[in-house]
Amino acid sequence: MTSHNRKSGGVNDAPEPESAYTKIAYDPLDTRHYGAVSMPVYQNSLFAFESYAQFEQAIQDENGQFHVYSRGNNPTVEYLERKLAELEGGERAKCFGSGMAAISAAVLSVVGQGDHILCSNQAYGPAREFMGNYLKRFGVETTFVDGSSLEAWKAEARPNTKLLYLESPTSLQFELQDLAAVGAFARSIGAVTIIDNTWATPVYQQPLRLGIDLVVHSITKYISGHSDCVGGVVIGPNRLMESLIRSEYMLLGGIMTAQTAATVMRGLRTLPLRMERHQSSGLKVARHLSGRPYVRQVNHPGLPEHPQHELALRQMSGFGSLFSIQSDEPLDKLKEWATRLRYFKIGVSWGGFESLVTVHRLPVRSGEMRNFVRFFVGLENPDDLIRDLDDAWASLQDE
Ligand SMILES: Cc1ncc(COP(=O)(O)O)c(C=O)c1O
Repeated sequence: MTSHNRKSGGVNDAPEPESAYTKIAYDPLDTRHYGAVSMPVYQNSLFAFESYAQFEQAIQDENGQFHVYSRGNNPTVEYLERKLAELEGGERAKCFGSGMAAISAAVLSVVGQGDHILCSNQAYGPAREFMGNYLKRFGVETTFVDGSSLEAWKAEARPNTKLLYLESPTSLQFELQDLAAVGAFARSIGAVTIIDNTWATPVYQQPLRLGIDLVVHSITKYISGHSDCVGGVVIGPNRLMESLIRSEYMLLGGIMTAQTAATVMRGLRTLPLRMERHQSSGLKVARHLSGRPYVRQVNHPGLPEHPQHELALRQMSGFGSLFSIQSDEPLDKLKEWATRLRYFKIGVSWGGFESLVTVHRLPVRSGEMRNFVRFFVGLENPDDLIRDLDDAWASLQDE
């Protein structure tokens, strides 16, 4: 060992880091790679061995400490997985080629023929489609519930309910579920809970610490943070992750590549910093919109008028910058407003550097259809974004 890399072991080891900033930035010195401060990209499909005995030993523990084949365990991907597990407070993480690959693998790892799923009725659309329609052909039934009501979860549970699927906050109407309460109820009936934690990120919400079993993320959003990657992750305890890795991960094969993992890791380094900025800018823009005459309601859990603001403060330590407004203005006018915005681009996804806008017609609690505009507040100056919103709206009144 050379003098510059002495910190890799022994008395000089840094203490267990606590803050997300430190967890993300700090690594013990890695002497396997000449002290390189970022993990090299292992662009290889397979790993070779000096002896047949070593090969056989590695095959026995392919998803443990050995590397055999990159569909199973690639060092660059594994490095990202360790970081994400640490951030969420989970024992194990596994990265996937997309958020949906992570969600479908996690769900399939829990349910089988004849089982029943309870799913929040505002969860991400393709996740609902997967559980509600696709899984029907394998004899799995799904009931969609008002996730904000603990009573609704309880009322719809059946003896064969194996999974409660949450997403909190939801990503169109920003409704919360009480994670500790739903988690405790699931445990009482012997069911597993999965939550989509994409909105809050592990920086602002750690559901495993509140009693949820498995966390999934679309890495495509804040975690990668630059609109240049598609990926997903499942994080949880070894007791659930081991079978998920052996079956849904290895057999369905929806892996993340080493190149993507390295790009995600580069984005992850600034996640807490970006989240601080997203939080403050998102709240500023949301507060501004809450005073506008064309806005019936702002759906942002960080605003005191959000009906679940208290719960939000209890289970999250900060807020994402994706929120929506409900408006009584005609849908066409809202779409024209979106078209006239300069800094908000029209497009799906979110979590990158750039602000985005989409217009939706959605059912509300009463069953009535209402008009919504969803904003993602990026890293621009929030005052420029507010001026953009005001100017574009004013230009519609001039005609
Ligand atoms: C809340 C949420 N979960 C999951 C997904 C799916 O992620 P991916 O597009 O990476 O498959 C998305 C994508 O928009 C999302 O918004």
